[in-house]
Amino acid sequence: MQHTILLIDDDPDFVEATQLLLEANDYRIITAGNGQEGFQKVKKESPNLIILDMMMTYKTEGAETAKAITMDAAVKDIPIIMITGARKEFSFPFELKPNQPGLPVKVILEKPVDPENLLKTVALYIEKRGDEPVKKQIDVKNLINKWKNKEGNLIMILHELQNHYGYIPRDVAFNLTRDLEIPLARIYEVISFYHYFQLEPPGKHIISVCMGTACYLKGAPQLFKEIKDILNIEEGETTKDGLFQLKGVRCLGCCGLAPVIMIDDKIYGNLKSGDLMEIISKYSNEAETTAKGGAVK
Ligand code: FES
Repeated sequence: MQHTILLIDDDPDFVEATQLLLEANDYRIITAGNGQEGFQKVKKESPNLIILDMMMTYKTEGAETAKAITMDAAVKDIPIIMITGARKEFSFPFELKPNQPGLPVKVILEKPVDPENLLKTVALYIEKRGDEPVKKQIDVKNLINKWKNKEGNLIMILHELQNHYGYIPRDVAFNLTRDLEIPLARIYEVISFYHYFQLEPPGKHIISVCMGTACYLKGAPQLFKEIKDILNIEEGETTKDGLFQLKGVRCLGCCGLAPVIMIDDKIYGNLKSGDLMEIISKYSNEAETTAKGGAVK
């Protein structure tokens, strides 16, 4: 499968040279000359990766564009590589470092960019995402038309959104209030009533703590509390790094092993207080090792 890279930069020489380099390495390249055009192309094309210049029409245009992209539920996970030649010459209202709220980009490369380093970095971030297609923004107006005048339409629309995104993004819920002309409170009332709907993106690993009778009597509430303390989240929430999501569930069907938790599809039974840290660390360490294996300094 050929991967698509969006190159957002107002320097035609850099765009031409980088495009040639990447096309020669079998990437499909689309280009944009400023942040606004770039954002529109991100939405339209859902590229696998974005290469973004910091200084274009104004000094922080790249940072503003990166923020707009990461605030849009449909495209927020597309990795962004920032390119800049301004680090030494200008000061910015934020630290020029990757992975921060003011600058949500994966890596920053200095101009002039070493072609080999660029290719290595591009390959790394495309590989991390695999061939998983980015979720395109669902057309809420179409959804509304489809379910208009049908009984229970709000629930059916929420079901389609949940199936599409894996959760109900807040900005999409907000658009629904406008398009369906119903209060946001009503939408959240329905979302919170049904366990199936979620407001947070699902974590990479789902930890299900059995709260069925057998597990409950054998100490499930204490285990639940311990996991919450270890992960620093409440039931239904996802850790900030997106690694774990915590759920309370009914009987998992192996009461003989009570108390029981399930992580993804693996059951852990006969648990005692103190077992959990080791189990959870195993998943955290695996994630850390994977990240280190491909880290770009
Ligand atoms: S009650 Fe927990 S597995 Fe049955």
